[in-house]
Amino acid sequence: MPLVNMKHLITHAYRNGYAVGAFDVVSLAFLQAIVAAAETARAPVILSLAETRFEEFDFELLMPAVEAAARRASVPVAIQLDHGANLESAVHAIRLGCNGVMLDASHDSFFDNVERTRAVVEMARACGVAVEGELGYVPGVAGESPAGALSYTTLAEAKGYVERTGVDFLAVSIGTVHGHLKDKPRLDWGRLKEINTALGIPLVIHGGSGLSDEQSRKLITLGIAKINYATALADIAGERIRAAAKAGAKSHAALLAEVRGAVSAEVERCLRVWGSAGRAAEVQAQCQPWLNVEHVVVYNAPTLDEGRLRALMAEGQRQLATIPGVREVVVGSVADKSARYRHCWLIRFASAAVIDSFKRHPVQASFIDRQFNAAVADRLGADYCIADQRTGAATLPLSSAPILTSRDVSV
Ligand code: 13P
Repeated sequence: MPLVNMKHLITHAYRNGYAVGAFDVVSLAFLQAIVAAAETARAPVILSLAETRFEEFDFELLMPAVEAAARRASVPVAIQLDHGANLESAVHAIRLGCNGVMLDASHDSFFDNVERTRAVVEMARACGVAVEGELGYVPGVAGESPAGALSYTTLAEAKGYVERTGVDFLAVSIGTVHGHLKDKPRLDWGRLKEINTALGIPLVIHGGSGLSDEQSRKLITLGIAKINYATALADIAGERIRAAAKAGAKSHAALLAEVRGAVSAEVERCLRVWGSAGRAAEVQAQCQPWLNVEHVVVYNAPTLDEGRLRALMAEGQRQLATIPGVREVVVGSVADKSARYRHCWLIRFASAAVIDSFKRHPVQASFIDRQFNAAVADRLGADYCIADQRTGAATLPLSSAPILTSRDVSV
């Protein structure tokens, strides 16, 4: 069960006095390097996909690889959308396989930030997905020189924000900056201590690249359970490419191998400094696996001709795919004409939480109850946990439900 519930993952770190590293994935080479480092260090890890860097890679194209790497990893992994711009970004990221989302409305006014974050929490909670919010402003962008003024998180606003939004983790601004820094940042330790004592929820630091090891360790003693880290990895990769090329490396494969080696070594170093190395087994034992659920419906529609049946399927696919937590909607008809049920819907949910929220969603009510049920004579439906491809485990509360892989579905 290597892909695990992100809230469980970070809560374990918070309760046990270490931080999980959230490393920016920008390519297949970075993905391989980060997972390899976590496996070597036996550490839980977060694969972070930052919306602020989407011009560097194709998010939709990379996500299937990210999910596959997480599922086959031998250590607990979570996948997070970082610096999500809005509600639509969060819905899209969950559809593509993220099981944690960060909404970054930290540049907005307090009230706008609360309102926008609360909307994301409401949607994500219905999908079982954990949410990180940010309050106060950490300036700069990963990989660039800092721009914009830092705004500190205040204790009073932090309390109000967490109460009103219900976020699972809070990213705080206490002096860190994203990107390249000339000097180590000056951190407001007293502020962090007060916020941690008052809130008692896992706190997050962005701008991890600028920190010294001593600063990171002290941050962790004051409630930081997740550290975001990006610029240093990009710099190390670039430096290594230049050095290898200068030393005579010519092929693309040789340069990529250098990138993987350098990024992996730096990630492993961080995992050891932040105390997550060696924790994989206990985290795995205490976190629920993150399993998709397949909502399977088989049915007959004897009164519909072929054209109307296809139109109904297409309309359902279009409408149901818009419901948050629905990852994919597949329709089909039997290959074997003697089958009892002639048509099917396979609707993939991000998690078991979507079973309820899907049923309550107005789009499903209007389509299934009015259009679909009106045309369908005979139907059978059930929700199935999708078995982990490697271990076959499906240990959600739905354990009484049959386990299958999508290949096993037949009507
Ligand atoms: P750095 O690029 O400064 O490490 O910050 C990364 C980050 O916070 C991504 O959200």
